[in-house]
Amino acid sequence: MAGNIRLPQPRALALVAAWRSFFCDASGSAALPSARELDALARDVLALQRGLTGERKLAGSGYMDSPGLLGAYLLYYWPVSWAQASRAIRRSGMAGALKGARVLDLGSGPGPVAAAALDAGAGSAFLVDRSEPALNLAASLLGPALAGKAVMDLADKLDGLPGPFDLVTIGHALNELSGDQALDRRLAVFQNLMPVLAPGGRVLAMEPATLAASRGLMELRDALLSRGWSVLAPCVTQEPCPARAAGPQHSCHDEAPWTMPTTVAELARRAGLDRDLIKHSWMVFQAPGHALPPSFAYRVVSEQLVNKAGRARRLLCGQGGRFPLSAKLGDSAAAKTGFFSLERYDLIRVDGPEAREGGWGVSADTSITRL
Ligand SMILES: C[S@@+](CC[C@H](N)C(=O)[O-])C[C@H]1O[C@@H](n2cnc3c(N)ncnc32)[C@H](O)[C@@H]1O
Repeated sequence: MAGNIRLPQPRALALVAAWRSFFCDASGSAALPSARELDALARDVLALQRGLTGERKLAGSGYMDSPGLLGAYLLYYWPVSWAQASRAIRRSGMAGALKGARVLDLGSGPGPVAAAALDAGAGSAFLVDRSEPALNLAASLLGPALAGKAVMDLADKLDGLPGPFDLVTIGHALNELSGDQALDRRLAVFQNLMPVLAPGGRVLAMEPATLAASRGLMELRDALLSRGWSVLAPCVTQEPCPARAAGPQHSCHDEAPWTMPTTVAELARRAGLDRDLIKHSWMVFQAPGHALPPSFAYRVVSEQLVNKAGRARRLLCGQGGRFPLSAKLGDSAAAKTGFFSLERYDLIRVDGPEAREGGWGVSADTSITRL
């Protein structure tokens, strides 16, 4: 399924050119990887996939310093992270406010999240990672928009950086702070970035959609809210996360179609991975001291499920927690409201819902507005 998130062609070409010049030869060629090169890359993609989301042996290690793994990250995971960050920036409503913004990308790796912010209008990006090779690669890709880079640990104090920054991004890096003290270490990252965050500045945290990583982000969210931070999106309430409270098997993640770049499609096929959709968990936070007005909007947080009685339902999250909005499959009044074409992470207002046990129904008196 193709979607409207598409890596611009110049970015896709620049990734291949950077891969050739950093890992193959310095001829300046931007020829697409050959079948043999793709096979070798696919083996490294699989090693990354297993090491970061499966057995997790690579998480928290210096894997970005391995040329094979960094090259595979560049051609496979970079476009995925770019698409995920682009989606989060759009869906959170931040896109309009990014013009000229100064971005700090923590755990940047080779810079896909910073690139997505720049492509959405940000003015410059400063990168922090503990891998120097990854930072050098990012620098070659970001060009003059790079405000600087520093080899540092995520847990380090950031006071020395040339802030203030309007947006801090942390893409797929918080979950690498693991172990018994994981929550404290993740909270320390937020504490340490406060001195360099501009007044009203935002923090975009993005994590994999796995149950463990999603729940880790939900746990961090609740802990940040209890310390005075606000969550601006996708959550529309500042109450404890209802999905987290629902039990250890519950989580919340975004999912969207995208237009897969050719090289990603080739590598996914060779590695036997499914990349038709981008799936990730993301949240946008604001530092303490900025009260938010109450919201009466709801976020759609599930795909469409159909029960035995033939009712289609979607979970909504907002005032009153997480509960279903449902309609009889094929019901023409519900079809007119747009209920059947809702998508995950749509932000909606529901007027005149029908009260049903445990949730809401869509009736002839109901209207649904996409916000
Ligand atoms: C999975 S990569 C994500 C890269 C990029 N942000 C993205 O979303 O695609 C995680 C990055 O975090 C960095 N990282 C992990 N733990 C770190 C730490 N304690 N200090 C600094 N960087 C760290 C790794 O070097 C790696 O570049």
